[in-house]
Amino acid sequence: MCGIVAYVGKEMAEPILIDGLARLEYRGYDSAGLSLAGKNGIVTVKSQGRLQQLKERVGQLDSEDRFCGIAHTRWASHGKPSDANAHPHYTEKVSLVHNGIIENYLDLKNFAQNNNYDFLSETDTETVAKLLDYFYQGNPFSAIKKVIEKIEGSYALAILFADRPKEIYGIRKDSPLIIGLGQTGNWLASDLTAILPYTKQYILLEENEIVQIQENEVKIYSLEREMKEKKVQQMNWSLEEAQKNHFPHFMLKEIFDQPTALKNTLFPRLRKNQIDFRQDGLPENFFLPFKKIFFVACGTAMHAGNIGKFLIESFSRIPTEVDFASEFRYRNPILKQDDLMIFISQSGETADTLAALRLAKSKGICTLAIVNAVNSSIAREADYLLMTHAGPEIAVASTKAFSTQLILLFILALHLAQQKQAMTKDEVSLAVSSLKNSIVDIEGILNRKEEVQQIVQKLDLLHTEHLFFIGRGLDYLVGLEASLKLKEISYIHSEAYAAGELKHGTIALIEEGSIVVAIATDENILAKTISNIKEVVARGAKIFLVIAEGMEVEDSLLEYCFVLPKTEKTLSPFLSTVVFQLFAYYAAMERGCDVDKPKNLAKSVTIE
Ligand code: F6R
Repeated sequence: MCGIVAYVGKEMAEPILIDGLARLEYRGYDSAGLSLAGKNGIVTVKSQGRLQQLKERVGQLDSEDRFCGIAHTRWASHGKPSDANAHPHYTEKVSLVHNGIIENYLDLKNFAQNNNYDFLSETDTETVAKLLDYFYQGNPFSAIKKVIEKIEGSYALAILFADRPKEIYGIRKDSPLIIGLGQTGNWLASDLTAILPYTKQYILLEENEIVQIQENEVKIYSLEREMKEKKVQQMNWSLEEAQKNHFPHFMLKEIFDQPTALKNTLFPRLRKNQIDFRQDGLPENFFLPFKKIFFVACGTAMHAGNIGKFLIESFSRIPTEVDFASEFRYRNPILKQDDLMIFISQSGETADTLAALRLAKSKGICTLAIVNAVNSSIAREADYLLMTHAGPEIAVASTKAFSTQLILLFILALHLAQQKQAMTKDEVSLAVSSLKNSIVDIEGILNRKEEVQQIVQKLDLLHTEHLFFIGRGLDYLVGLEASLKLKEISYIHSEAYAAGELKHGTIALIEEGSIVVAIATDENILAKTISNIKEVVARGAKIFLVIAEGMEVEDSLLEYCFVLPKTEKTLSPFLSTVVFQLFAYYAAMERGCDVDKPKNLAKSVTIE
């Protein structure tokens, strides 16, 4: 995820900015850059790759002393990692860095091009720089106001104006920006870690506020140019606490990162509510020739593949198979030249997935990777690449990587269906609107986290050794992932069963007090799932039921129940998954487990 740091003060800006960027490295990045303002104007230096490369380039600058600058680490969304796409983006008059996504950037680009601006990058951010240049006539406030009236999306912006080399401006919406107040100067930063060694005093910038920082002064205005009084806060965090952004664990932080991660993954691929993978380098009608799809992955990523199969087969009736990567290679799979193989991996380094990818390539099969880690082996070696923009996942248990895999698979399935003429443009647009609504629903579920915590406590998971998840269709597939999440961090043994399958053997394990988590979000098969629930209730099971709003279920089954917002059937995994991530998290907490670093597990599995 991108990072911002900006400084103006008595000290030379460049080492402070580079140090700030280094402190933001934990967020992950693929390129970095900075702009420094001095009496001869603004100089900008950018580099793809590690900070060391940026440092070497900065070292080649002339020797002018510069005390004011903005800097950025970029995690690619619009446009690949490259020098040109790195921030800052600039014109003769302005330079800026940006976190977030400008959703209407194509319209803005047209506007700028019609006003004779040329573009040097593929980014959404460059349109903001051009727009600001267009509106800037010497008054930063009115120019910034005009720009934000035009842009849609999320942003934290730090801005330099060439004719104002001793001040920096900042503004934000849906993306954080803080103001650091120091002895030697003042800062803007996307997160507190960037400024931790320099100052403990900071102000949170709110939406619709414009901040101007100078060496000795910080002024915050409303958009109407009224000066605002703001509370100065004192930070008492260690570096690790700051990285967790006040959450007790990385896992909980990452569960809460999901709405942003989902938007970051979705929005760069939308154009007027239609899906567009051209930025990712997929040719027009890419999916048209394929007659069969394979998903190959491990663990949680494989569970995403299961859901991908369900969606592709429902939307376009293209046969799809899912394989554990470790099995795929050794089962002598039947592969044809008109197959498409999709490899899903958070780390991009999982040995089995990588080996399966190499096998597919050796047979001349077209390969597409869905990966979170930039420049990983799988990302580099696949023929085509779709990045999830979850940002770095630090907790061992995968949460936001999984949900961003789901959102990519959802739009991939829609796009495939449209190319195969199984869905119309209007149907896709409607589905995309519902998808956007489910991100809002996820925010609502996160706000109800205490409900899940109470259920965990009431069910007494502290003393539970075995548990079953049951569901049908997509609910069963969600159950598989829910069960894995619970096992890996709380060490409760659990199994997920297709609800109708339990009675074919496993029901023998159900006894008085057994806990069965039943997922029933599909109205059409509710009655069937309820029958299966009753089979286990009759044998003494306690039920934790997850249903959707508006479903009629008898009271006796509702003692432990979480009601999801009503949504389309195919979108329910986005919502129910979040409940089970919280369920696993609170179960692990109850049992005193090391949530972020469960025993026997590694974040990246590079052995077969
Ligand atoms: C579980 C988990 C693992 C990974 C699996 C594949 O929470 O994270 O099951 O999903 O090891 O890893 P990647 O996605 O890096 O290929």
